[in-house]
Amino acid sequence: MKSYFLITFGCQMNVHESEKLAGALRSLGFIPTKKKEEADIIVLNTCCVRQGAENRALGNIGAFKTLKKTNKDLIVCVGGCMTQQKTAFKKLQETYSFIDIIFGNQNLDKFKEMLLERIETKKKIREIEEGSPTPVESEISRADGDTAYININYGCDNFCTYCIVPYVRGRERSRAKQDIINEFKKVIAEENCGTPRFKTITLLGQNVNSYGKDLKPASTFVEIVSELIKVLREECWGRPLGDPQKIAFMTNHPKDFSLELVELMAKNEEYMAPEIHLPVQSGSSTVLKRMNRNYTREHYLNIINHIRKNLKKIYLTTDIIVGFPGETEEEYQETLSLIREVKYDKIHAFMYSKRSGTPAASMSDQIDQKTKNRRVNEVLALYKDVLNKKM
Ligand code: 5AD
Ligand code: SF4
Repeated sequence: MKSYFLITFGCQMNVHESEKLAGALRSLGFIPTKKKEEADIIVLNTCCVRQGAENRALGNIGAFKTLKKTNKDLIVCVGGCMTQQKTAFKKLQETYSFIDIIFGNQNLDKFKEMLLERIETKKKIREIEEGSPTPVESEISRADGDTAYININYGCDNFCTYCIVPYVRGRERSRAKQDIINEFKKVIAEENCGTPRFKTITLLGQNVNSYGKDLKPASTFVEIVSELIKVLREECWGRPLGDPQKIAFMTNHPKDFSLELVELMAKNEEYMAPEIHLPVQSGSSTVLKRMNRNYTREHYLNIINHIRKNLKKIYLTTDIIVGFPGETEEEYQETLSLIREVKYDKIHAFMYSKRSGTPAASMSDQIDQKTKNRRVNEVLALYKDVLNKKM
């Protein structure tokens, strides 16, 4: 039996895309191994949202060269978001020429064909695509655990000035409603020893709240969630389920997040996971403007108030960036005061990382590393303090 070793960096989107890579590998008869030294194929699914993620990927790739020396038949594949950037793609080709297959995230559905071609011809493959249509979802090998992921839309049209995602994942494209419903039905019906295999089904998109805008006829996120709740109600009625399976979703954008969604969640608490991830990025309206986020602190707090009023039990999480170009001490203090006000259950805090090609990378007033370090540590300390007071 030939085996594969799969490493994933990055967000849930990447985690789920690795389930698709695993599906392709398994359909060719490969089995997973936990030891890369034993693997016949190594696949690295990369991230590029911050420089740190790229550095870690490059560190891993360097180590594969040594493995290739002891196993000359080893096939090394590198794909995902990092390879989708022209500069990184060039660097990988030039500096790491031993890689057998370089693919992107927009042609991930062709990975199986590429691998077959590599095995048959022994030729190195370097293929990146841009502007790909909505992919056909197939051969997903879902990881064990409580959560099943389902993609509902791909790409991003928001162009937040710090973010590389719209450049590497392309324009926003929604999956057809019926395709999502069919996949959802299949997933909720999966069983393990007579009980549902997954407790939560998480709908994934870079901005789930803008789902359906591009469909003809247009649809909305509230519409698709309502349909899925209906499926849960109808399909699971009379089934000895214990707790009903629940729908979760991520990630949200405050500019598109509709209050109607909160009402839908409140009316269907038994079918909805009690959690919302609502990235704020900054508590300062002037920084939000420079980030091109298209909402203000007040708008964000309005949503939070609505959530708190309607959903008594909710696990509220966010992403924060400190040290965005030009962030003054006063602007940064507004982020701290917002954290105190919202009392999040979890905060993911990041130091701004320059991404080449994004508007923020060429802003003149970059913040020094020492200030970024201090600010991120203070945010994390405040978050701990908020948590302690909540308990
Ligand atoms: N620097 C730091 N953090 C970033 N994020 C996105 N781009 C950057 C960047 N250039 C963060 C945002 C986003 C999360 C997934 O990653 O907070 O919500
Ligand atoms: Fe990046 Fe903004 Fe799109 Fe999120 S909404 S992926 S932060 S550009």
